[in-house]
Amino acid sequence: MAQQVRGVVAPGKNEPVRVETVIVPDPGPGEAVVRVQACGVCHTDLHYKQGGINDDFPFLLGHEAAGVVESVGPDVTDVAPGDFVILNWRAVCGKCRACRRGRPWYCFDTHNATQKMTLEDGTELSAALGIGAFAEKTLVAAGQCTKVDPSVAPAVAGLLGCGVMAGIGAAINTGQVGRGDTVAVIGCGGVGDAAVVGSRLAGAARVIAVDIDDRKLETARSMGATHTVNSRTTDPVEAIRELTGGFGADVVIEAVGRPETYRQAFYARDLAGTVVLVGVPTPEMKLELPLLDVFGRGGALKSSWYGDCLPSRDFPMLIDLHQQGRIDLGAFVTETIGLDDVEKAFARMHEGDVLRSVVVL
Ligand SMILES: NC(=O)c1ccc[n+]([C@@H]2O[C@H](COP(=O)([O-])OP(=O)(O)OC[C@H]3O[C@@H](n4cnc5c(N)ncnc54)[C@H](O)[C@@H]3O)[C@@H](O)[C@H]2O)c1
Ligand SMILES: [Zn+2]
Ligand SMILES: [Zn+2]
Repeated sequence: MAQQVRGVVAPGKNEPVRVETVIVPDPGPGEAVVRVQACGVCHTDLHYKQGGINDDFPFLLGHEAAGVVESVGPDVTDVAPGDFVILNWRAVCGKCRACRRGRPWYCFDTHNATQKMTLEDGTELSAALGIGAFAEKTLVAAGQCTKVDPSVAPAVAGLLGCGVMAGIGAAINTGQVGRGDTVAVIGCGGVGDAAVVGSRLAGAARVIAVDIDDRKLETARSMGATHTVNSRTTDPVEAIRELTGGFGADVVIEAVGRPETYRQAFYARDLAGTVVLVGVPTPEMKLELPLLDVFGRGGALKSSWYGDCLPSRDFPMLIDLHQQGRIDLGAFVTETIGLDDVEKAFARMHEGDVLRSVVVL
């Protein structure tokens, strides 16, 4: 029997989101229905609402979630009803060319549920990142459920489902930050601050946080940044060079997703350094750089999809470190809200008032 639940839908480009009745089918082969307990508001949800990802409206938003498996399809063996899981948007297929070459964190054929959730009138919903978890229940591929220790609060665990994992992974997986490295992080929202935490975890000697908002810089410092630069008032490239003996940082993590901040990242890194783009640009953005500088500065220009994470490896590991007190995932939760408050949470995100608003159900 399909179920009716409440869910947050983005009906059309730039239209306010609405809480609607969502029809959730019973899980078919390879699928699971999850009772969502918490789902963080990520900037990517706002990108969806603004039409910056694609035009497949209406969207069922929300993709940074934890909950309890309610039911599974007939052939599902990895998770069972009652399991506490973090939802991931990389259900590794095991068969694509990336997986076959032993690089499952790039999996090019990750899967989502085959069936669609719909509105009451049968209109199919596009679930944000194949998850759609601003809803009491959601239908996902069973591989999107990663079982973790149930003693962690859902509002905290769920953050690993997207932004916090993307940021920590941008540092430890994509950027390969190592002991003694200098790191600069441009843009200190949830993702950037997680990159600060990841850099510390990896043993960075200096972590320079850059943002245009002093409040964000203060939080970044509390997360472990050793230096801060307000790029509204100070040239960040010069400031980062000054803080690194005139050379630039070994790894610069761009967590905004704009050409001007990418350019700053490009020039703020040392020779043979690494730029990691974890911020998500929109389709109209263009980047122009002297090709000679691309060659002459050497090193690596990388993008970080989901922090190049492997959910089965990284989620339980980071939950473990959190339990031991070696990272504080709770520090990312600014406020907990209800399903009806998502539109307001977007406004607060836009104003820079929050690191993460988390919908708790
Ligand atoms: N690669 C991935 O897998 C992945 C996953 C999640 C989110 N993201 C992307 O990461 C980016 C950040 O997400 P978030 O949730 O942290 O957003 P956020 O809105 O919480 O944070 C963005 C931060 O950037 C700062 N900022 C804005 N313009 C700036 C500028 N010109 N210079 C310096 N700082 C500036 C803001 O003050 C804010 O602190 C978004 O583009 C989001 O879509 C990527
Ligand atoms: Zn694959
Ligand atoms: Zn996200």
